[in-house]
Amino acid sequence: MTGSDTTQLPSITTDVLIIGSGVAGLTAAVEVSREAQVLIVSKDRLGENNTMYAQGGIAVVLSHDDSFEDHIRDTLEAGQGLCEPTVVEHVVREGPGGIKALMGLGACFDRNNGQLALTVEGGHSHPRIIHGKGDSTGMVVEETLLNFIEECSNISTLEHYFAIDLLTVDGQCCGAIVWHRHKGKTVVWAKETVLATGGCGQVYRETTNSDIATGDGIAMAYRAGATLRDLEFVQFHPTTLYIAGAARSLVTETLRGEGAILINKEGKRFMPSYHPMAELAPRDVVSRSIVREMRSTGYTHVYLDVRHIPKERLKVRFPRIWSTCASFHIDISKEAIPVRPSAHYMIGGVEVDEKGRTDIEHLYACGEISSTGLHGANRLGSNSLLECIVYGHKAGSEIADILRRNKHKTRTYPLRVKVKARRHRGLNLGDIRYALKSLMWRDVGLERDEQHLRDAVGEIGHWSEYIMDKEFNSPYGWELQNMLFLSRLIADSARERKETRGVHYRSDFPNRNDKDWKRHLFIRNETA
Ligand code: FAD
Ligand code: SIN
Repeated sequence: MTGSDTTQLPSITTDVLIIGSGVAGLTAAVEVSREAQVLIVSKDRLGENNTMYAQGGIAVVLSHDDSFEDHIRDTLEAGQGLCEPTVVEHVVREGPGGIKALMGLGACFDRNNGQLALTVEGGHSHPRIIHGKGDSTGMVVEETLLNFIEECSNISTLEHYFAIDLLTVDGQCCGAIVWHRHKGKTVVWAKETVLATGGCGQVYRETTNSDIATGDGIAMAYRAGATLRDLEFVQFHPTTLYIAGAARSLVTETLRGEGAILINKEGKRFMPSYHPMAELAPRDVVSRSIVREMRSTGYTHVYLDVRHIPKERLKVRFPRIWSTCASFHIDISKEAIPVRPSAHYMIGGVEVDEKGRTDIEHLYACGEISSTGLHGANRLGSNSLLECIVYGHKAGSEIADILRRNKHKTRTYPLRVKVKARRHRGLNLGDIRYALKSLMWRDVGLERDEQHLRDAVGEIGHWSEYIMDKEFNSPYGWELQNMLFLSRLIADSARERKETRGVHYRSDFPNRNDKDWKRHLFIRNETA
């Protein structure tokens, strides 16, 4: 995206470059560090990412009343025909080992009478969600991994370094160009590179995601020539705190697992009339039911009611939600919580195989950026952290194996990779960013149809004409280019899939159509 001549830039050489310091990147780093030197690059503080905000927990089969078969069946059912069954099987069966490894590093999950406490979320047939510090599971996981990394001599980190683009030569990845606001650009040469940059919720106006989630890694992978898959499948979370002026913080689904009910403006419970599983129906069903209820009552939101749950229980089990609401003067033991849906999780992403390999040599992807085949057309709650842990481990141990086998081989890097510079004229980037997020929310959101998708594609195409050919010199511009680019791919994919499946709802094609659409949509950059 920027003009660069690698011979003119300072460079660093490492065995393995990991871009992203959420659970996926850090888990991969732990594995690789047993064998080789790792450099982790993160565009913000190491601990600023979606992982840090994860609330509900991690789905894993640990109880004798539960079984791998049931977790596999639940995951396949949610995925509506597009999960890869062998991937589902591996992830579910490898879950307990991954959790054990995390606990070995010091992660403390909540317990009841000495046993790990298990709760339930929509679509899970058994209580199998473990959690930490009540509703701060992600923080527990992230802090555990960060503590390990701090002590590990084989791992170094670069915080506040923005990865602009991957370096590829003859179809092989050999690192990336990164940028720091005081140090400018640096070339990182690496034998193996892992993309763990997370999702892209920030392309939507309403989102639960951290500011970092601008889809940079997916865009970088595409530019480098990797195959992307299923970008139309964006998951919307039903219950995000809706208070004007407040960030859209999540109100965890596990509250519904513990008995919270959804009521409309008139105080009427509505989910039983939409689905037999009521509040614990799959997320897409709950999200769309809320939107319909908002429409029929002409109101901006609905409410999550927890007033029947004892106050002490709420405070201990959901301390984060308790205090967030309290900071807006809402005592949730007395008042219902205002909520509405928002963009939450990118199901599609960079296609990877069972070892986390992309189709570019020496390039891996793990975590939310990747499309492993676990989620199909819809993700079960708490299956993401599980996937990040299992695939972070798979990618990391595959790389460690390769480096062990090739211990005495060196990798040579090209002397020069040169990219031509482009022009930059003044643009109000904030204005375009906001317009894009609003457009995506309005036209490529929870409910889609041909007319709105076509409008969105046209508008994004128009903006792209004068934004994509510019050269920016800071992350705000590069992120905008990545977001524009990804929005276009999401809208194109959503337009192409002329059916309703999982999280992808087309009001003009409201039925699932297995005959024509029980298949993935692949996207490749043929010019890379
Ligand atoms: P992230 O944790 O998002 O990390 C991405 C990293 O990439 C960051 O360090 C970022 O700085 C870095 N990065 C990005 N772009 C660049 C760049 N250009 N240059 C350098 N660095 C870059 N899932 C569950 O299973 N259970 C839950 O309870 C749960 N709760 C959630 C609650 C919330 C509010 C949200 C938003 C998500 C939740 N999810 C949950 C989903 C889950 O948290 C995420 O899918 C998962 O944490 C993603 O981890 P990751 O490592 O792939 O990415
Ligand atoms: C939540 O706690 O509701 C989020 C869980 C998830 O996204 O998996």
